[in-house]
Amino acid sequence: MACPYPATIIPHASWLPRKKASNISPAATAHGAVQQPVHHNSATEASLPVSICNTLDKAIDRFIDPPERRPLVDPQRVLSGNFEHVVELPPTRCPLVLGSIPSCLAGGAYIRNGPNPQHQLQGRTHHLFDGDGMLHSLLFPAPSSTLLQEPVFCSRYVHTYKYLLEREAGVPVFPNFVAGFQGVAGLARMAVMFARALAGQISMNMGFGLANTSILFFAKHLYALCESYLPYTMCINPATGEVTTLSRCDFDGRRMIGMTAHPKKDPVTGELFAFRYSMFQPFLTYICNHQLLHDFAITEHYAIFPESQLVMRPMNMAVRGGSLIGLDSAMVDMIHINLRTGAVLRTALSPESLEFGVIHQDYVGRYNRYGYFGVSAQLPRFSGIRKLDFAMVGADDCTVARRDFGPGCFVGEPFFVPSNDNGDGNEDNGYVVCYTHKEDTGESQFVVMDARSPELEIVAAVQLPARVPYGFHGLFVTQAELLSQQK
Ligand SMILES: [Fe+2]
Repeated sequence: MACPYPATIIPHASWLPRKKASNISPAATAHGAVQQPVHHNSATEASLPVSICNTLDKAIDRFIDPPERRPLVDPQRVLSGNFEHVVELPPTRCPLVLGSIPSCLAGGAYIRNGPNPQHQLQGRTHHLFDGDGMLHSLLFPAPSSTLLQEPVFCSRYVHTYKYLLEREAGVPVFPNFVAGFQGVAGLARMAVMFARALAGQISMNMGFGLANTSILFFAKHLYALCESYLPYTMCINPATGEVTTLSRCDFDGRRMIGMTAHPKKDPVTGELFAFRYSMFQPFLTYICNHQLLHDFAITEHYAIFPESQLVMRPMNMAVRGGSLIGLDSAMVDMIHINLRTGAVLRTALSPESLEFGVIHQDYVGRYNRYGYFGVSAQLPRFSGIRKLDFAMVGADDCTVARRDFGPGCFVGEPFFVPSNDNGDGNEDNGYVVCYTHKEDTGESQFVVMDARSPELEIVAAVQLPARVPYGFHGLFVTQAELLSQQK
């Protein structure tokens, strides 16, 4: 079922200037309701208690926790270059500037999630993780389409409760969860947040999720996820490329708090596995401290949770004036476990620093041979892509294919799309795709690489009409999946 939301595709000549998207009332998002557009031109007038809270927040930012005291969360540094936010972009046609789009991409869409703060304030501490979620989607024309002849790119905010409330207010309402909760300032911000709740400005049970981390397609629904809160159901219009937020998803009331941004879909059984954790007991079953558990793995019979060095320390913030989130360097990093002997083995796969690895999604939870990784260069941007062959474990370097993008050009997380040419059935028969960005010109592209080429040869490139900020995780959704979307 296609999305019921009309959209206009902007031709090349209309790329700039860009209009902002139509506005949607935060009240319409409550309890999974489908949103209806309402238009407004300016922030709503604040009540006296809300105005006092706004003043208190500004005072905390100015006098207790000014960004210049903490360079690591100074927005002038954190939100510079291609980390600076962009405005929304309606569906816009894009020229193919190299090669041809493989048939396995036709009619589908590549979507990448990432943080893009709605209010970029220079006087307020900010961490990359604190940005509002924005989806950057590239829809590819289907062979049978008479409407779409070229790829269509669209950037839209996920209309979370927080995003809509802060758009209505015209200022930030919630503290920045990562940058803001530190020492006395963190406690003061928490007090102001509760004062806003008492004043009726915010509803605490609506959460302050950012939906800025990843994308999932499951059971005919597309979700934007962030582990701080519930997923939001999204929709990509398969005819126009428009990106729409449908609702906050609480799974029919069965899940009222957050869940991982990295659920795992078993390609054989079709089941979806996820976990959640809390600052409070029982944290996560058999994990005996309150870690930040960002990701996990599944096999045919087990779920595997790696112990993380990231831990939440509420008392560190309250008593010692430290950060809510800390690093526990004493923890052991377990990599390989022999379940029969109990032996633990750590084996290096590459001499390079590799991150954001992905595999062929049909091999999740099963033996797989290949992985595709970004070469770390100030996360989450990468200077190149590497393909590793896990069958070579034990060699000094498992790298079997590599591409470097050259000085000043960086890419985001790679994603593997299997070919549909019925080749030889090999796991690596397909393409590696990602967004690229040239920092000297500000240009962004979408590139398609041949996964079996030792140079990861670029076989297609699409020039994007706007800059794509560095972000987090992406996904390719097939045409059949797009057409199956349900409200
Ligand atoms: Fe992640």
